Amino acid sequence: MAKHDLDLNYLDPNYEPVVNHSENTPFHQVLAARMQRRSVMKGTVGAALASVMGLGLAGCGGDSSSDTTGTSSDAGTDTDAANTELGFKAIPVSTANQAVVPEGYSAQAFLPWGTPITGSYPAYRPDGTNTGADQEQQVGMHHDGMHFFPIDLKAGGNSSTEGLLVMNHEYINQGALHANGATYVEGMRPSDEVRKEIAAHGVSVVHIKQDANGTWDIVFGSPFNRRITGGTEMEIRGPARGYHKLFTKFSPNGNRTRGTLNNCSMGPTPWGTYLAAEENWHGYFRTSAEVRPREQVRHGVDSTSRYDWELADNQADGYVRFDVTPGAGTATDDYRNEANTYGYMVEIDPFNPESTPQKRTALGRFGHEGVIFAPVKEGEPVVCYSGDDSRFEYIYKFVSSKPYYAATAGGYLLDEGTLYVARFNDDGTGEWLPLDLADADFAAKVSAATGTTVGAIAFEGFENQADVLVNTRLAADIAGATPMDRPEWGAVDPNSGEVYFTLTNNTKRTEEQTDAANPIANNENGHIIRWMESGNDHAAVSFEWDIFVFAGLKGTETVVDGEAVVTLDDDNIFNSPDGLWFDYNGRLWIQTDGSDAAPYQNNMMLAANPETREIKRFFVGPVGCEVTGVVTTPDVKTMFVNIQHPDGNWPDSSDPRPRDATVIVTRDDGGVIGA
Ligand code: FEO
Ligand code: CA
Ligand code: CA
Repeated sequence: MAKHDLDLNYLDPNYEPVVNHSENTPFHQVLAARMQRRSVMKGTVGAALASVMGLGLAGCGGDSSSDTTGTSSDAGTDTDAANTELGFKAIPVSTANQAVVPEGYSAQAFLPWGTPITGSYPAYRPDGTNTGADQEQQVGMHHDGMHFFPIDLKAGGNSSTEGLLVMNHEYINQGALHANGATYVEGMRPSDEVRKEIAAHGVSVVHIKQDANGTWDIVFGSPFNRRITGGTEMEIRGPARGYHKLFTKFSPNGNRTRGTLNNCSMGPTPWGTYLAAEENWHGYFRTSAEVRPREQVRHGVDSTSRYDWELADNQADGYVRFDVTPGAGTATDDYRNEANTYGYMVEIDPFNPESTPQKRTALGRFGHEGVIFAPVKEGEPVVCYSGDDSRFEYIYKFVSSKPYYAATAGGYLLDEGTLYVARFNDDGTGEWLPLDLADADFAAKVSAATGTTVGAIAFEGFENQADVLVNTRLAADIAGATPMDRPEWGAVDPNSGEVYFTLTNNTKRTEEQTDAANPIANNENGHIIRWMESGNDHAAVSFEWDIFVFAGLKGTETVVDGEAVVTLDDDNIFNSPDGLWFDYNGRLWIQTDGSDAAPYQNNMMLAANPETREIKRFFVGPVGCEVTGVVTTPDVKTMFVNIQHPDGNWPDSSDPRPRDATVIVTRDDGGVIGA
């Protein structure tokens, strides 16, 4: 099967149905030029770094402002503006089947799919004959979001030479995974193929270390090395724990489930754990039911599943669960509710290999692309943002009920709080709309909508707050959120506090459906939006926004107050921005997952200066890939970049199979990446 037939992220107008029919598109025909630039408040960088890095930088007090020292700013002072300047020479677009980096930089593939990391360390076999049990001990496929946790983080350190590299494996290429692709015998799939496919999904935790020569390698035998897969047992936490719509044969009390799937981006928490997002999980399930519950309809669960796991020939419970057709008995006799245990952010503690992953339902159930935490402050709520990557879906924010204290912070902070959804007004202001039955305005909207049709759904109210969260998209429809052009990754500027989100593309938006925040009909190339919370308080319920840049062809302008503040040229044309990350100095890294035809050619990563909006192409991936997932060591001298679904014989030209892999980028003079 061709690569893009399996790639939900590729710019394919047929890749999935538009499942939001709520027509929350109140604003029309507003030109991009109406964006109003606001003055940007300066924040304190120490708090930002502590948030991004977890505990390790909480006491960071380095005093250098040199560009060669990485995370260098004084805690509590503005960052030196020079730290966000782009010191490298932009590279041209590329069709080469290799990772291309600027002059003075080197790139090296690392941790390709199939690399053994645990247990008996089964060697990768290039003929595709590794078993399911082997794959459970090897790095998964289709690398995506990723974070580097310094090995001494919990002790207050910030090692840049040893750490836990944790990454998602979004989906698979069956053609490369097996000796002869996916096979069927009398309509059933060999169970070990299914086991291998489930094991190639999920998350890898890899203990890595740099030697004296600067070479990174796996720490073999480390107890931290771990695979979490589409079959790993997990706990349900937050308001939906124990809710009857999550009852299954496996967990009759709705407290547990198995597996995490389609993990796209992620977010490191301020307390040193990792949240993996469940994005296009709906495609893994199928149903024969003619009448489907709203929990499935609003996500597009239909009569076929992506990989036919429910057809495993041994019909084991762990495989048949992907068929969510109700049986003759009750919900605890079958898996009609299995899909309701997916669509969450999943917390994994990489420093505790025995820990059970936790699905945090208070953050909502939707097509989570990832999550990004705002800087934390002692005694104040924890705030994080998450986009729902589907056409006309929304951007959300969670604000914890309990305050953050570094000494006691943990995942419990994510179990109680308010989930908000964003409305972007056409005058450059915005509001956070609470999805909480205890909020009088939301409760009134729910009452008014009850008995009406919301989108394609006959709405009969919510049973309780758990029901609201399990039906987050529907709740957001009712609240009056602004449908966006596929929100992908978010990032918080550690210097200004502004929040950036990529809106990757939306070729289904019509002229009539345009609004100020999504102003392009047939938006093929996407754009990046950003906002500043009122008072630079991330828990605020209002904000001001503008568009940072419109992607597209040479000559594409981003206009503010009648003046082009960005005009794309040969150094920076790009399309379909997806991955987005601020490094610890405040340079913004933009990764693409778009058309890889001329003039853009292979997908790429660019660096941007958020102060000046200067953008330069820094990295181009090999043929057929998307570039997704980026992080550096705390000193910003080693960068890890993920390559997903390469087409050709990459990274090893002698291997008949393409292998997703991480690319390690370093500067030949040992300096800071991007400076
Ligand atoms: Fe998995 Fe929305 O990219
Ligand atoms: Ca994408
Ligand atoms: Ca993505």
